[in-house]
Amino acid sequence: MSEQTPVLRLAVFASGSGSNFGAMLKAIDAGKLDAEPVLLITTRPAIGAIDKAEARDIPVAILPPAKFESEGAFAEVLLHALTEHQTNFIALAGYLKKIPASTVDAFKHRMLNIHPALLPSFGGEGMYGRRVHETVLEYGCRVSGVTVHLVDSEYDTGPIVLQEPVAVRPDDTPKSLAARALQLEHRLYPQALQLFAEGRVVVDGRRVHIRDG
Ligand code: GRF
Repeated sequence: MSEQTPVLRLAVFASGSGSNFGAMLKAIDAGKLDAEPVLLITTRPAIGAIDKAEARDIPVAILPPAKFESEGAFAEVLLHALTEHQTNFIALAGYLKKIPASTVDAFKHRMLNIHPALLPSFGGEGMYGRRVHETVLEYGCRVSGVTVHLVDSEYDTGPIVLQEPVAVRPDDTPKSLAARALQLEHRLYPQALQLFAEGRVVVDGRRVHIRDG
């Protein structure tokens, strides 16, 4: 019997520590995620995500958008790298730059992002990292959460695939809330990717239906 190719040939985009990337790799090792990580794209060198990729011989492309003469030139190189590694799915995991329109179009309904709040609240340009949790606490929310969503041409606006709440505690700081959200992210992101690997996701406009497994 020939070996079956995993459905997802996954490129992960990260600009930071890459703990979500690490959670995906762990889920793959545990047999909970049928994906092959084929490429890591980063905006800068010397970040945790690169160490994780290198430890497993996953190819890394460091592509700082500002180093390209135009957005078009960056988009071209990015798409070329994705094609070269036969990528068929993208997971943004703490990637801080806007994805070029040509990549969004080429990976329509095949690109996910994770956000550490309940979208559509506390999202959008500039709303990332500590800022999200600070704003949630300043507003006095009793509940925050995590959202995994498809990527469209705007920040944090694509159809929602999975979403789960995190209770806000009276003594929470941005750091403590972020830590609990991150723990949830590490479970929710591989879970969302596996739904795609199993072909159970149907996108109907803004609404995403999950077929029974
Ligand atoms: C996560 O909080 C994620 O929700 C956001 O960026 C952060 C990335 O963290 N999009 P890490 O690099 O995966 O640890």
